[in-house]
Amino acid sequence: MRIIRCENYKEASEKAAAVIASQVIQKPDCVLGLATGSTPLGTYANLAKWCDEGLVDFSKVMSFNLDEYMGLSPEHDQSYHYFMKHNLFDKINIDQSRTFVPDGLAEDPSSVGEAYDAHIASEGGIDLQLLGIGRNGHIGFNEPCDEFVAPTHLVTLKENTREANARFFTSIDEVPTQAITMGMKSIMQARKVLLMACGPDKMEILKAALEGPVTPQVPASILQLHKDLVVVYCERGQDEA
Ligand code: GLP
Repeated sequence: MRIIRCENYKEASEKAAAVIASQVIQKPDCVLGLATGSTPLGTYANLAKWCDEGLVDFSKVMSFNLDEYMGLSPEHDQSYHYFMKHNLFDKINIDQSRTFVPDGLAEDPSSVGEAYDAHIASEGGIDLQLLGIGRNGHIGFNEPCDEFVAPTHLVTLKENTREANARFFTSIDEVPTQAITMGMKSIMQARKVLLMACGPDKMEILKAALEGPVTPQVPASILQLHKDLVVVYCERGQDEA
């Protein structure tokens, strides 16, 4: 495990973007696993800038996102499809037909999950998986529970997750109750994992994840068993200099 402690969000976003950019430079046709949430926004802004400046070329990159809310169409402004398109894909030279996000409108999420994992495996697996962490320790939408769930699957969101994410919706009633998330298998099989945590409200759960027992009650703790984990964190919040 490599831990990079940063002074502030700006530095954390530069460090995380540098890890991703070096992956793309070393292997231009790499497979990236991507995350949503507010944490990676600065990272994506740096990647967009560096792409614009001709420093990183995403034209051969393929990507798979971690998760999507059930019931939201790709056009819904709180869907993760929309998030990725507006915060990254439209701003870099990636071929958008090679970017994949689980289908939140799927009628049969179990078959979608199976197909999503098979697709990832058929592309040789993920080279670099970017992750944020929920305040309850979730990664993707793998919520605290009694066992680690391996395949991409349907989850019922915890109330504290819906409350945490309500800030993006007009009211908590609009936050979907279910999501489809990549499971631990595709995440742990990624050749490199980059975990980001920024802000005072993430420090306690980050410590529990990295130093506490490996338990599905703290889903991110499974990352202690990953052979190439890079953690980029800062104690200061996103709006602090
Ligand atoms: C969501 C996403 C996670 C993300 C987490 C933290 O629930 N499914 O992938 O890591 O929120 O979000 P934020 O970065 O906004 O704190």
